[in-house]
Amino acid sequence: MNTIHPGSATRVLSGMRPTGRLHLGHYHGVLKNWLKLQHEYECFFFIADWHALTTHYEDPRHLEESVWDMVIDWLAVGIDPANSTLFIQSRVPEHAELHVLLSMITPLSWLERVPTYKDQQLKLKDKDLSTYGFLGYPLLQSADILIYRAGLVPVGEDQVAHVEITREVARRFNFLYGRESGYEELCQAAIKKMGKKAGKRYSELREAYIERGDREALITARELIEDQKNITLGDRERLLGYLEGGGRQILTEPQSLLTEAAKMPGLDGQKMSKSYHNTIGLRDLPDDIAQKLRTMPTDPKRVRRTDPGDPEQCPVWQFHLVYSGEDVKQWAGAGCRSAAIGCLECKQPVIDAVLAELRPIQHRANELSQDPTLIRSVIADGCRRARDVAEETLKDVRRSMGLEYS
Ligand code: TRP
Ligand code: SF4
Repeated sequence: MNTIHPGSATRVLSGMRPTGRLHLGHYHGVLKNWLKLQHEYECFFFIADWHALTTHYEDPRHLEESVWDMVIDWLAVGIDPANSTLFIQSRVPEHAELHVLLSMITPLSWLERVPTYKDQQLKLKDKDLSTYGFLGYPLLQSADILIYRAGLVPVGEDQVAHVEITREVARRFNFLYGRESGYEELCQAAIKKMGKKAGKRYSELREAYIERGDREALITARELIEDQKNITLGDRERLLGYLEGGGRQILTEPQSLLTEAAKMPGLDGQKMSKSYHNTIGLRDLPDDIAQKLRTMPTDPKRVRRTDPGDPEQCPVWQFHLVYSGEDVKQWAGAGCRSAAIGCLECKQPVIDAVLAELRPIQHRANELSQDPTLIRSVIADGCRRARDVAEETLKDVRRSMGLEYS
């Protein structure tokens, strides 16, 4: 395809903090989405170990174990290193160089107003998060994204603000360093080279975006540029930058690809999360999983077996929504409301489905955990691939910032 930087529109990047072994919440909320994306795009997935240190700097003892456990879990669910580039952030130190360079142009106020800054400080009261690293963490995330010129960043709701600041940083960077003398004239000449029809269309779309903020027009115009076969790389960059009124587009503005709110509830009906102690781990023993599900709470108003229940008030029902087909849902819903079935009976198909889903994953995880050499080589390979791409971007960035000495 003819994108300016190969792949940028079709490149996906996402990261995950190494928090230890993964659970069904990660699987249904994040990994299943990655599994789909890896067949549709060029994907980069990485373990955000520096990000983990921004909040857990006092106790790095379990970091390494968490990192390898996470790689095993990714591979066990089917993330395929032949399709996706898998790597560890700290093994690609280019992220740090870009972070420091971006820090030169990032106003402090942009970081202070990122919602997670204050929220997390309040939430993690037992930790001292008045550190430089914690304030700068969204900018580190910007560097993670921009260094691969990723067009799409799959994230949850809580991370959208970080992608937004990334866009602002990219825009500011391009504005500051993407200017060249005679820019306006060069852009007009590039438009001419598109040919009469496409050139006119480009100008109309640009006007619609700049004057009326029409984002559809922006997207269409980008596609139009991508489709041009006969213009140079330099002109392509100019035309893209000119679209948004800025300079040459050295860094690519990413879009967030919002993953639907995690469909997977925890055992207590709240969001599944380690801090709520309501998880089913991908590698929990089958007997423990069955036991967790058997003892999970149900509709609190259904005290006796003969009391009719209300599925809407029951976390088990949420599991049926994820795991059961129409017939089973019909059976469970009706049986609950009429007290025709008991709660243990109702849970059995869920237990069976969860165990069936996890069986092949656990089998692979078992094999993988006995083959550390394989795990290391997958990561070494991914880090190498990631560094190649990162170095390309950094070269451009250094040159733009006057750091290319001969
Ligand atoms: N901040 C993300 C989180 O806490 C992890 C992350 C770091 C990330 N860098 C990223 C996600 C870049 C997407 C893109 O979940
Ligand atoms: Fe929940 Fe099923 Fe019991 Fe109804 S029958 S309360 S849905 S576990």
